[in-house]
Amino acid sequence: MSNDNTPSPIPAFGLGTFRLKGQVVIDSVKTGLELATAPSTRPRSTATKPRWARPSPKAAWRAASCCVTTKIWTDNYAKDKLVPSLKESLAKLRTDHVDLTLIHWPSPGNAVPVAEFMGALAEAKAQGLTRRIGVSNFNIALMKEAIAAVGAAQIATNQVELHPYLQNRKVAEFAQSQGIHITSYMTLAYGKVINDPAIEAIAKAHGATTAQVVLAWAMQLGYAVIPSSTKRANLEGNLKARQLRLSDAEMAQIAALDRGERLTDPAGLSPAWD
Ligand SMILES: NC(=O)c1ccc[n+]([C@@H]2O[C@H](COP(=O)([O-])OP(=O)(O)OC[C@H]3O[C@@H](n4cnc5c(N)ncnc54)[C@H](OP(=O)(O)O)[C@@H]3O)[C@@H](O)[C@H]2O)c1
Repeated sequence: MSNDNTPSPIPAFGLGTFRLKGQVVIDSVKTGLELATAPSTRPRSTATKPRWARPSPKAAWRAASCCVTTKIWTDNYAKDKLVPSLKESLAKLRTDHVDLTLIHWPSPGNAVPVAEFMGALAEAKAQGLTRRIGVSNFNIALMKEAIAAVGAAQIATNQVELHPYLQNRKVAEFAQSQGIHITSYMTLAYGKVINDPAIEAIAKAHGATTAQVVLAWAMQLGYAVIPSSTKRANLEGNLKARQLRLSDAEMAQIAALDRGERLTDPAGLSPAWD
C-alpha cells in the first residue's frame, strides 16, 4: 500500500491464498511477507524493516508496501449489496481500504447486469474503500460490457486461469489491447506443470526450478502471477523467478504446450470461454 492517492501499478508478483485456511494461511502470508521484505529480495526503493509480526495486518501490509486484493462473491453483486459486502471484508481484514477489489465470477445466470455491479464497484472506489477495481474470470464479451459500463481505464486487471496448459491467448490479447492488465491465476496449474519434461529441460539449462521457469514465462508475457504455497522453500524459490529471463526459443517451447486444459470450472459460474 502506498500513502498517496495514486494507486501503484499491479505488482508483477503476488501471493495467492485460495484453499489455505487457519494457521496454514497465516503462516504462508507471514513467510511471504518476511521473504518479500528481506534485504536480498526487496526493491531498494521500498526497503522497509519487516514488521509483519506486529498484531495489525494493516501495519504489516504498509510495512511491506503490499497491495492487498479482495474479491466480491457472486451473492453480493446487486447495487445495494456490493458496498456493504466490501465493508464487511474490510472489517475482517482490519483495514479501511484495500488496493484492489475484483468481481470474482460473472453473475450466475446474468442475474445482476454487468453495468449494475461494475457501477457499484466504481462507487466503492469513489468512496475510498478500494484504490483500484477489476474483474476475474471474464471472457471478451463480458470485458466489453464492463468497459461499456465504467471505461477500460477504470479496470485494473482481469484475473483468469492461465498456465502453460491453458494459455488463454484471446482473452489476454483483448485485455492487453484495452490496457487491462492480465493476472494469471493457477500459473503452476496447481502443481501440474512442475513435472513437464519440456519445462524441466529449460529449468535444467538455467539451474532453476520448473516453478521458476513457469512463473518467469508468465511475467515475461506481461502477466502478473499470484502463486500460492504452504512451504517456505517454495515461497522463497518462486520469488526468485523475477530474476530469470527466458530466451525467445524457450518462450516458444512453452507456448507450444498449450492444450486448452481448464482446471477451474465451477458449475454455473464460468462464462463460455473464448
Ligand atoms: N479468481 C479466481 O477465480 C481464482 C481461482 C483459483 C485461484 N485463484 C488465485 O490464484 C492463486 C494461485 O492458485 P492456486 O493456489 O490454486 O494454484 P497454483 O499457484 O498454480 O499452485 C499451487 C500449488 O502449487 C504448489 N507449489 C507452489 N510453489 C511450488 C514450487 N515452487 N514447487 C512445487 N510446487 C509448488 C503448491 O504446493 P505447496 O503448498 O506444497 O508449495 C500448491 O499445491 C490462489 O491462491 C488464488 O488467489 C483465483
